Amino acid sequence: MQIDILTLFPQMFQGPFSTGIFKRAIDRRLIQVNIHNIRDYTHDKSHTVDDYAYGGGAGMVLKPEPIFEAVESIKSDICLKEGGSELPIILLTPQGRLFCQQIAQELSRYSHLILICGRYEGVDERVREHLVTDEISIGDYVLGGGELAAMVVVDAVVRLLPGVLGSEASPLDDSYTTGLLEYPQYTRPDVYRGWAVPEVLLSGNHAQIAKWRHEQAILRTLKRRPELLDKANLGLEERQLIERLRKDS
Ligand code: ADE
Repeated sequence: MQIDILTLFPQMFQGPFSTGIFKRAIDRRLIQVNIHNIRDYTHDKSHTVDDYAYGGGAGMVLKPEPIFEAVESIKSDICLKEGGSELPIILLTPQGRLFCQQIAQELSRYSHLILICGRYEGVDERVREHLVTDEISIGDYVLGGGELAAMVVVDAVVRLLPGVLGSEASPLDDSYTTGLLEYPQYTRPDVYRGWAVPEVLLSGNHAQIAKWRHEQAILRTLKRRPELLDKANLGLEERQLIERLRKDS
């Protein structure tokens, strides 16, 4: 997957993309990440990227021209390489659709993504109307800009790509992929400060362990995020278990 990120602060991406799974994925050529400075697509002496809002008001608005030019330049490179495959152009903004695991899965199916990090008070509306194909928010709060949001989106998407994580199966067990929160995990020592690991996990009985984990995932979801259970893909037995747990609590 090729990921192009447009930002006014390219240096913000240096740390995250030079460590951990990103670095491994880049080194193994599973992903290619290109960071573009929006300022490089300006033509005036002072490299102006923002201006006052028409109609007045505090705060500056990102100008359309450098953003259009940056995206068009990236798009023409991609088209030269591969023809006209579908290319999401995503603006990170608190006004976008709320990011979730399902959107991460959706994005992981594309061969390219272009992410535009907004800044200041906003982005000229013509970018929204005539350039981007999608707008994403990572939560109902306002960040200083879209950079951290872009990193969150890229992290969630990249770990779903085949070969990025050690084991192919691991993203399938994630919270939200199953529709449930993840069950409790333990490692050695089996007793720490008097707190013992649940006996079933030491039993070697894989069927019992799977059953315990599934029940724990249901229990945890019921306690912390009960609204997720309505959407989870559960059978009759599981629904009956939830009813019993609800009555007991
Ligand atoms: N830019 C500022 N706040 C944001 C948010 N919550 N999500 C995405 N981009 C943003």
